[in-house]
Amino acid sequence: MAFLRSSSRKLLLFSSFFLLCSQNRVLGAPQVPCYFIFGDSFSDNGNNNNLATVVKSNYLPYGIDFPGGPTGRFTNGPTYVDFIALLLGFDRYIRNFTDALTNQDFVRGVNYASGAAGIRDETGFRLGDRISFNHQLGRHFYIIAKIRAILGDRATNLLLNECIYTVEMGTNDYANNYFMPQFYPTSRLYTPQQFAVVLVNQYARQLMYLYDLGARKVAIIGLGLLGCAPQELSKFSASNGSTCIKKLNDAVIMFNDQLRPLVQRLNSNRTNATFTLIDMVSIANSSSASLPPLDTRVPCCETITSIGTCKPNGAVCANRDSYAYFDGYHSTRIVSQSMAAISYDKARPSDAYPYDIHQLAMM
Ligand SMILES: *[C@@H]1O[C@H](CO)[C@@H](O)[C@H](O)[C@H]1NC(C)=O
Ligand SMILES: *[C@@H]1O[C@H](CO)[C@@H](O)[C@H](O)[C@H]1NC(C)=O
Ligand SMILES: *[C@@H]1O[C@H](CO)[C@@H](O)[C@H](O)[C@H]1NC(C)=O
Ligand SMILES: *[C@@H]1O[C@H](CO)[C@@H](O)[C@H](O)[C@H]1NC(C)=O
Ligand SMILES: *[C@@H]1O[C@H](CO)[C@@H](O)[C@H](O)[C@H]1NC(C)=O
Repeated sequence: MAFLRSSSRKLLLFSSFFLLCSQNRVLGAPQVPCYFIFGDSFSDNGNNNNLATVVKSNYLPYGIDFPGGPTGRFTNGPTYVDFIALLLGFDRYIRNFTDALTNQDFVRGVNYASGAAGIRDETGFRLGDRISFNHQLGRHFYIIAKIRAILGDRATNLLLNECIYTVEMGTNDYANNYFMPQFYPTSRLYTPQQFAVVLVNQYARQLMYLYDLGARKVAIIGLGLLGCAPQELSKFSASNGSTCIKKLNDAVIMFNDQLRPLVQRLNSNRTNATFTLIDMVSIANSSSASLPPLDTRVPCCETITSIGTCKPNGAVCANRDSYAYFDGYHSTRIVSQSMAAISYDKARPSDAYPYDIHQLAMM
């Protein structure tokens, strides 16, 4: 009986969903009805285009390998989250906030990610406007009200429980906060270990708010090794023969190390939700084993020295599939695609804890 009730609810939910987007559907149904994306420039798909900020990418050579050209993605082709959307069976990438509203397409999910955004509100302020994680959660609250107006409360609650959520935040709290002592006081207030604890505590509260807004399948994307990004190598002039900047990597690893216990805590306290950690350091390692050798030291595009993004209409490498980084921070299409594939179906147990995104979708 309980089963019948819940499956007829699901039917109701799915039929209203299909009705809403039947015009756009081509292939089979996606594995989940919707996908909501929170993050920074790694996931951004144009949310910064109209903001007063230097952190933009809606110009060439960004998008040089993307159908239709530049969009505000910080890479040459689709992003990591674009590939996740395809792996989940969506026939189209998840739209940015403005585009989702314009097209009334938000029941499928929204991409709220914004370049330079952080867990902390002040993170990235020196670069201009950005949509912090708190502000992204505010936009999600707004979108949910729009969905309720269309589907009603019951179907909306069910829908929100079925969606996948990926949250990718924290890199800017280091690159554009803690390690910029001339603009931000955090490194004088906290040791790296204390800062990791303060950040993860704030992150935990934000993730619980996301849960309160109905999220039940949440993938937390861990940080990559910031100290190996070409921009940081040149900024901290890694001329020691060292491959990466150790103090940056040590700091982000302290943050990453807290995410596993956070996932455990959330899963044991929020028993009807599933949180999982996607470990980007492990995945980068798994991925390098499956890709040809890439140039990891220099970016593919000519960058703006001060911030590491591509120079508008600047030089760009011809063989983009031979580089790990497109600009000073962001991976090329080939790396993003490989990292997404491993996030979706883990190659080693350490890549995703406890579930990869495919397992999360099936729950
Ligand atoms: C959102 O996406 C659309 C379509 O790619 C793009 O035209 C627009 O500039 C993006 N950003 C905003 C803020 O609308
Ligand atoms: C270079 O090496 C010295 C001594 O080992 C170290 O103190 C310094 O931080 C290193 N520089 C970089 C950029 O890693
Ligand atoms: C579990 O969640 C409740 C309600 O949000 C909270 O009061 C409690 O402190 C949490 N317990 C742990 C161990 O996190
Ligand atoms: C499970 O989620 C529902 C809302 O969907 C909530 O009312 C209920 O309290 C939750 N149960 C637990 C154990 O968290
Ligand atoms: C990467 O993987 C190799 C084995 O495949 C392992 O020896 C090494 O410790 C790994 N490095 C990291 C940072 O996980």
